[in-house]
Amino acid sequence: MNMVSWVYVIVAVFAVGIFNSSKSYATFFPADNYLIVCGSSQNVTYLGQTYISDSVQSWVSLQSQENSYTATSNSTVPFPIYQSARIFSSTTSYRFDIKQEGRHWVRLHFYPLQGKNLTSASITVVTEGFVLLHNFNFQNYKGSFLFKEYAINVTSNSLAITFIPSNNHVAFVNAIEVVSIPDNLIPDQAVAVSPSGPFNGLSDLALETIYRLNMGGPLITSQNDTLGRTWENDVKYLHVNSSAVNVSVDPSNIKYTSSVGPEIAPNFVYATAETMGDANVVNVNFNVTWVFLVDPNFSYFIRVHFCDIVSKSLNSIIFNLFINNDIAFASLDLSRQAGNLDVPYYRDYVSNISDNSNTLTISVGPDTAADITDAIMNGLEIMKISNEARSFNGLSSVETLLVLPPNKSKMGIIVVSVVCAVAALTSLGLCYFCLVASRSKAPKLGNPLPTFPLSGNSSTATKMSTTSRKSGTASCISIVSSSLGRIFTFQEITDSTDKFHEGLLLGVGGFGRVYKATLEDGTKVAVKRGNPRSEQGLAEFRTEIEMLSKLRHRHLVSLIGYCDERSEMILVYEYMANGPLRSHLYGTDLPPLSWKQRLEICIGAARGLHYLHTGGNQSIIHRDVKTTNILLDENLVAKVADFGLSKTGPALDQTHVSTAVKGSFGYLDPEYFRRQQLTEKSDVYSFGVVLMEVLCARPALNPVLPRDQVNIAEWAMTWQKKGMLDQIMDKNLVGKVNLTSLKKFGETAEKCLAEHGVDRPSMGDVLWNLEYALQLDETSSTLMEPDDSSTNHIPAIPLNPMEPFDNSMSMINSGTDDDAEDMATNAVFSQLVNPRGR
Ligand SMILES: *[C@@H]1O[C@H](CO)[C@@H](O)[C@H](O)[C@H]1NC(C)=O
Ligand SMILES: *[C@@H]1O[C@H](CO)[C@@H](O)[C@H](O)[C@H]1NC(C)=O
Ligand SMILES: *[C@@H]1O[C@H](CO)[C@@H](O)[C@H](O)[C@H]1NC(C)=O
Ligand SMILES: *[C@@H]1O[C@H](CO)[C@@H](O)[C@H](O)[C@H]1NC(C)=O
Ligand SMILES: *[C@@H]1O[C@H](CO)[C@@H](O)[C@H](O)[C@H]1NC(C)=O
Ligand SMILES: *[C@@H]1O[C@H](CO)[C@@H](O)[C@H](O)[C@H]1NC(C)=O
Ligand SMILES: *[C@@H]1O[C@H](CO)[C@@H](O)[C@H](O)[C@H]1NC(C)=O
Ligand SMILES: *[C@@H]1O[C@H](CO)[C@@H](O)[C@H](O)[C@H]1NC(C)=O
Ligand SMILES: *[C@@H]1O[C@H](CO)[C@@H](O)[C@H](O)[C@H]1NC(C)=O
Ligand SMILES: *[C@@H]1O[C@H](CO)[C@@H](O)[C@H](O)[C@H]1NC(C)=O
Repeated sequence: MNMVSWVYVIVAVFAVGIFNSSKSYATFFPADNYLIVCGSSQNVTYLGQTYISDSVQSWVSLQSQENSYTATSNSTVPFPIYQSARIFSSTTSYRFDIKQEGRHWVRLHFYPLQGKNLTSASITVVTEGFVLLHNFNFQNYKGSFLFKEYAINVTSNSLAITFIPSNNHVAFVNAIEVVSIPDNLIPDQAVAVSPSGPFNGLSDLALETIYRLNMGGPLITSQNDTLGRTWENDVKYLHVNSSAVNVSVDPSNIKYTSSVGPEIAPNFVYATAETMGDANVVNVNFNVTWVFLVDPNFSYFIRVHFCDIVSKSLNSIIFNLFINNDIAFASLDLSRQAGNLDVPYYRDYVSNISDNSNTLTISVGPDTAADITDAIMNGLEIMKISNEARSFNGLSSVETLLVLPPNKSKMGIIVVSVVCAVAALTSLGLCYFCLVASRSKAPKLGNPLPTFPLSGNSSTATKMSTTSRKSGTASCISIVSSSLGRIFTFQEITDSTDKFHEGLLLGVGGFGRVYKATLEDGTKVAVKRGNPRSEQGLAEFRTEIEMLSKLRHRHLVSLIGYCDERSEMILVYEYMANGPLRSHLYGTDLPPLSWKQRLEICIGAARGLHYLHTGGNQSIIHRDVKTTNILLDENLVAKVADFGLSKTGPALDQTHVSTAVKGSFGYLDPEYFRRQQLTEKSDVYSFGVVLMEVLCARPALNPVLPRDQVNIAEWAMTWQKKGMLDQIMDKNLVGKVNLTSLKKFGETAEKCLAEHGVDRPSMGDVLWNLEYALQLDETSSTLMEPDDSSTNHIPAIPLNPMEPFDNSMSMINSGTDDDAEDMATNAVFSQLVNPRGR
């Protein structure tokens, strides 16, 4: 997953827009002020602003008509500017005359009109200097629009905004704004927080607004902001929502000064604030913290707005400001810095994310020296800073994107020269791009490796696992480990995916896009198409082919083949009908899984990981074990997927592999993170997180929850230690779980989550314990009291989980090997699994 966008599901703003305005534009008047609505034959008035049609011939000249066409919608759209769109089938630019160089807002509005196939559009937008969007599509944003706001320093007398359709799709846009910003709004220099020091050179970089908050106050739309900005309420970002209370004064009380005027922020922002919530707090000394999800690959420009609207006298509020856990401003005596009460004051910082996370936190807390224990914040802006490729999305630069246009046709230029008033509409919301990888197992491939009954797919499972068990480690229908699978031609791939039809898209991940495809013989497969220009993609492509072709296991995704014609990087896997495990736990309306199904899925995934760790000559560490990387086939058999990050494990004479920390926050082994030493036990930790997620049906990390609940590993462990895991488990399981089975499961997860790798069990032990939990569920009758001695009553299972795993496995083979499991699974699922539209 990656990238934070300003995607918002309609609502809110429109209501405010209805109150029409008697706008008072204060002092600043923008020299350049273009608001255009694209593809419309009429001008559109919205939030008191007139958006000029881009097809009014006297204003706009379309140099290359055949490149674009317009679409209008008669159906209900969230805002009037979304009634039309201009659609580009080849690279096309809008060019704006710039009267005054310097920073400009570039605001883009996107809404995929219904019935126009626009959800499959792939949108790349560049200016002459910066990549604003790269291959964005609306596949995962049903019913939402996208609003993007950038602050770009234009240093010539024109600005071209270029739309590049990619991957044989169109691009589109609904409305564009290009509006001057006062020169002094964004400085060249800010304070870097960690390590602290000056940060110079901002004027050469572009910024993208990610969050803009009015602390303790209502949504403020462009109508109430001289610079057309939108400010949203902060409550949903509070780490602990009761830690803050809002305060407000009459906006007319705010005393602007020559250094801070209304362009910095409207008085509505300074007139409201969050202060420390003191009710019922035992320890009066705490921080108020806001948590923001951000893309970890970027640095951020952070502006904090303060105004002492609460004190009766000067020097009352003295507090500390922290960004992440670093002190940004110690003992900030607000009225002294600002000069008086009710006088606005702001500070600018530049910061990376905090370590080990994709979050940025901002805190204020009281200074111990102050008489009054309080802290305040009135407003906050967080802007992404363009990266070294001068991009906001990935590492492709403008040059590489324009040099390789997907269509060869010449650039169309639409010239726009319109002047009108400022406006904008914003709203926020967060979206993740979740990798919905979908793939797995190759048919007709056996496994040469030992330890488990192994098989290719379920139709051949019985025969093959029988063979492999009888012949021990000898191979049955084996594949030579150097073989890389079937090589597909590009033609075969395009045929099977209907030319990469967007309707067949299963998901989009870091590496590329995954399509559902059907081979000539009718076999359903998943086709993963890498982004051909990504260097890193190439490395992961190779890793994945090499890893997967060495590994064959019923519980690991395996490769059918690949295609590297025409510098394509395409991998072909078997289609996993039921998608990622996570989507069966929460966030969708799929039917909840039963306890038995959950146990079987965990057991399957544990088998896959155990095989990775021990099955080959060299152990393999997955490094990214999480619920989106465990995929389920049509029978809900779990397979571990995504080896893009995998590393081969330590050689015999070493105990760990040193490596840069990779993986997904929320699942990361704290020890791996601290010491950057990778062992199989890091996967065990992540698997412990998966177990808790499966039990509680909530994300590994949920920053909107109260502090003690944010991280599932910590939260579930406190309940497990109290022996009360049943209190926090998925409500759908309440009353349906055998308590001894739950207890075993909880203990297993607890061991996986041990602080130190040496204290964690091996995947083999984990597997054994989960098998045991399943047996307890099946054999003991309902809701037995948890009782340690009960473990002794089940024969044929080794009682010492520390025994070498191979032995225990051979002992329970008769009962729970894959054949039996298959039969049981099939029998159960033919009755329980509802047909699903997936
Ligand atoms: C950050 O960059 C790395 C390397 O370029 C990439 O693997 C990773 O997916 C990026 N992360 C996000 C959240 O985009
Ligand atoms: C915004 O402006 C409108 C029109 O001037 C006004 O009615 C409304 O009260 C303002 N809202 C806020 C939150 O300031
Ligand atoms: C749109 O507005 C522009 C500028 O105000 C004006 O010249 C033009 O005639 C308007 N077009 C329509 C269709 O109203
Ligand atoms: C919208 O409605 C008008 C009148 O009902 C009709 O003429 C026009 O074709 C419709 N446009 C679309 C795109 O459906
Ligand atoms: C949508 O896509 C399908 C399949 O590519 C195509 O047949 C259809 O014409 C497209 N519809 C529109 C309105 O472009
Ligand atoms: C824009 O860039 C130019 C040239 O680098 C610089 O002189 C100017 O100060 C910048 N303006 C702003 C507002 O950052
Ligand atoms: C301020 O707090 C009160 C009481 O908690 C709440 O009812 C109100 O909605 C809050 N106002 C804003 C703008 O958040
Ligand atoms: C605080 O958070 C809890 C749980 O997230 C929620 O139930 C409650 O309504 C929130 N309170 C306010 C004032 O938003
Ligand atoms: C506030 O947060 C900072 C940074 O995380 C921390 O150092 C400090 O101890 C916290 N103060 C309180 C009272 O919790
Ligand atoms: C984070 O900060 C370090 C040290 O200041 C810097 O070297 C690095 O480039 C920054 N990372 C990002 C993604 O900006």
